[in-house]
Amino acid sequence: MQNDVTGHPERPVNFVCLLVYFLTHLIMECEGPQALCDLCLSQVCCSLPALCRGRTDGSMCFSWAPVFPQEVADQLMHTMAAKGLLNDTTVGIFRDGGTLRLRRATVRRCPLSPNAFLLALCPHRLQELDASWASGGLTGAAIVSGLASNPECRSSLQRLSLDGLRLDWESLVEDAGTRVGFSSLRGLRTLKLANTDLSDAALADVCSLPHLESLDISCSGVSNLSPLLDCKNTLRHLIAHRLQRLHMAPSGLTFVLRQLDALRHLDFSEDHVAEDDGSGEDVNEAVRQLLEGGPDLLPSLVSLDISGQKKISEAAVRTFVETRGGLVFLGLLATGTSTCDILSTKKNLKVTGAANEDQVCEALRRYRDRQCFVREALVHLYNLIADTDKPRPDILKLVLAAMQSHRSSLHVHVIATACVFSLTTQDLAEAMPLSLLGAAVAQLLHAMKTFPNHQQVQKNCLLALCSEHILQEVPFDKYSAATLVINWLSSHEDATLQRMAVAVICLLVSKLSAEETAQFSGDVSIMKQLLAIVQQKAMVGALDSSLKFALTALWNLTDEMPSAGRSFIECRGLELYQEVLESYYGEPSIQQKILGLLNNLAEVQELQPDLLDEDLLEHVLSLLQDTQLDMEVRYFAGGILAQLASRPQAWTLSDELLGTILGQLHAAIPTWTPIGREMVSYRSFQPFCPLLQSSQPPGVQLWAVWAIHLVCSHNTSHYCSMLEKEGVAELLKSLSAGPNTHPDPKGLADSILRMLDEHQSRSRTFSRQPEPRNS
Ligand SMILES: *[C@@H]1O[C@H](CO)[C@@H](O)[C@H](O)[C@H]1NC(C)=O
Ligand SMILES: *[C@@H]1O[C@H](CO)[C@@H](O)[C@H](O)[C@H]1NC(C)=O
Ligand SMILES: *[C@@H]1O[C@H](CO)[C@@H](O)[C@H](O)[C@H]1NC(C)=O
Repeated sequence: MQNDVTGHPERPVNFVCLLVYFLTHLIMECEGPQALCDLCLSQVCCSLPALCRGRTDGSMCFSWAPVFPQEVADQLMHTMAAKGLLNDTTVGIFRDGGTLRLRRATVRRCPLSPNAFLLALCPHRLQELDASWASGGLTGAAIVSGLASNPECRSSLQRLSLDGLRLDWESLVEDAGTRVGFSSLRGLRTLKLANTDLSDAALADVCSLPHLESLDISCSGVSNLSPLLDCKNTLRHLIAHRLQRLHMAPSGLTFVLRQLDALRHLDFSEDHVAEDDGSGEDVNEAVRQLLEGGPDLLPSLVSLDISGQKKISEAAVRTFVETRGGLVFLGLLATGTSTCDILSTKKNLKVTGAANEDQVCEALRRYRDRQCFVREALVHLYNLIADTDKPRPDILKLVLAAMQSHRSSLHVHVIATACVFSLTTQDLAEAMPLSLLGAAVAQLLHAMKTFPNHQQVQKNCLLALCSEHILQEVPFDKYSAATLVINWLSSHEDATLQRMAVAVICLLVSKLSAEETAQFSGDVSIMKQLLAIVQQKAMVGALDSSLKFALTALWNLTDEMPSAGRSFIECRGLELYQEVLESYYGEPSIQQKILGLLNNLAEVQELQPDLLDEDLLEHVLSLLQDTQLDMEVRYFAGGILAQLASRPQAWTLSDELLGTILGQLHAAIPTWTPIGREMVSYRSFQPFCPLLQSSQPPGVQLWAVWAIHLVCSHNTSHYCSMLEKEGVAELLKSLSAGPNTHPDPKGLADSILRMLDEHQSRSRTFSRQPEPRNS
């Protein structure tokens, strides 16, 4: 699909038609399946450059587009914002209000200039706009005056979120005699102004809105809540978390609260880890009066959040719960009162707190954007799940959402990564959906990248990643993960972490595609890093998993990868390997990995001269001859020698050594017994072709036919097809028919050809059978 779009300029039109047709029907007929709709939108998002042309001001517009169903326009904008694709250039596609009609718009966290906003969003008859945390110079004032410039928008807009923006309220100017302000947007019912520089004057303006039902002024600059009295008949939700500038006596506060008769939800929570500068005292006192004031105070209240408020007594909480029958929510995290016994007797009451899993999960859901509470809840969660043996994808989702919301918070990540590890150990991971584990890995890698020097975060992430199931089964970018871990490794020496990191790298490397392996092994610093680990371990004679994993990764990286072999040699790998080979005599697990890599090098003609070292070859020869050694070791030793001995024209050592090698190959191989288990696998037989020529000495031919015979008898169908495809069958036939061929290699070649014959007649019989029918 991707290729069609980018490859043929005439296609995008049909492509958009098809997608839109698809989307229209999905939405109109059955409102789903959501996943399919999301897929289509994602596809449009990544194809934008192909579907669009540029205007003279640099912004984008669709080259051609049908009229999008209205919901699809909204969803397209949401998808673009979520993917971080919405900016001054791309938002241009929404300027055409004829084809893309927006109602519920979002530019959340997008970099947007006031002018681009004005041109693309303000012509629409918007009902909702989320501009929270937008960057790029967009201010609250620019948004409000832009929206107010469209008379339709003035009355249609019902929900507006400006969290995290600079309001710059003073800059709003007179417009035809009346001052433009929040109050110009007469239809507003919900307004979110958390983390803004909202002043008392601006609050007064806000409170003159005739339909204001829900207001969030958390962490704003407000010092006095009296303006709320202007909207006391409509205001149903007031969120006033952490008002540090508030300057009102408790009696004044209570006086205002007493009149908010319509209020159903009140949030007066406080950041409990913030420095105790006495600023919250008055609110704290007002909260206590509220708890004990009886149901006449705020008679409609069914939901109260006082998380983080200190000096609240269990008795006050109990009184409150007892006197409010309709209560549905109570926020008590970090108040020390969430274990109050009365809470568990109310079935319909949701509570945030630390007493049990329900309370903690409720806190993670509700406080997703409040870092102090997220961290507090995660700490409690960690204690609750430390020994869990049930898979909990639901909880893992909450933890990942918390990490996603606080991508740069160390406090959150230290504890969240520990939770991810607890939730995905051993069998637990196997019971989770792969897509969820994929999301977990993405968060872990992000954490490793963001906090490179934090030991605990790194350790938690490596512990979680160091899982066969996760590394083998979960789809994620293995290449950047491996690069990330190896770079981290180069600057850290903690033994435990190093062991985990090397294990992770080893598993990741085995999963790379050939192209990625080429790219990865082309990086000399990676080669150096792995060799440094081998050296460090060999120096003290350690025989641990770090050494084995590093050797395996190197073996893997050099497989049919001449450039990797070259950098191995340039990083003085051969000298190191020779030492290790000698000092680990009698350790087959080490010898096998070393000889396997040398075998990879010996298959590459350009690298062969580097291997022609008398000491090295005599050592390898002794391994070939030693009947006490593992078959694997002797097999790889034979391979190295056969490759090098197959090119007498390039031989630079004594003829005597060459003669000995050829003689020993021929003497040893016929005594080898077939091995039951799969010992080695080949992606191609090409390295064997030169060895099968009739001009080769029997010792060389013998090793090659023995190797082919071995893999063919373990996995006949796979390797027989390879024999045919790569033309090796022809080589074997001429070897077998050659008048000068020695009976030993001929015998094995015939045996392979018989296997091939049987395989071919089996597959012919199979393909001649009638098609099975479904009846
Ligand atoms: C907007 O995003 C697109 C795609 O990510 C990028 O190519 C373009 O340069 C960006 N434009 C601006 C003005 O940042
Ligand atoms: C690395 O090793 C794994 C498992 O042993 C194997 O499947 C993979 O093909 C190897 N990759 C390369 C590039 O040799
Ligand atoms: C044979 O080898 C191929 C490729 O390595 C592999 O996919 C297949 O599972 C193997 N079959 C058996 C029976 O081992």
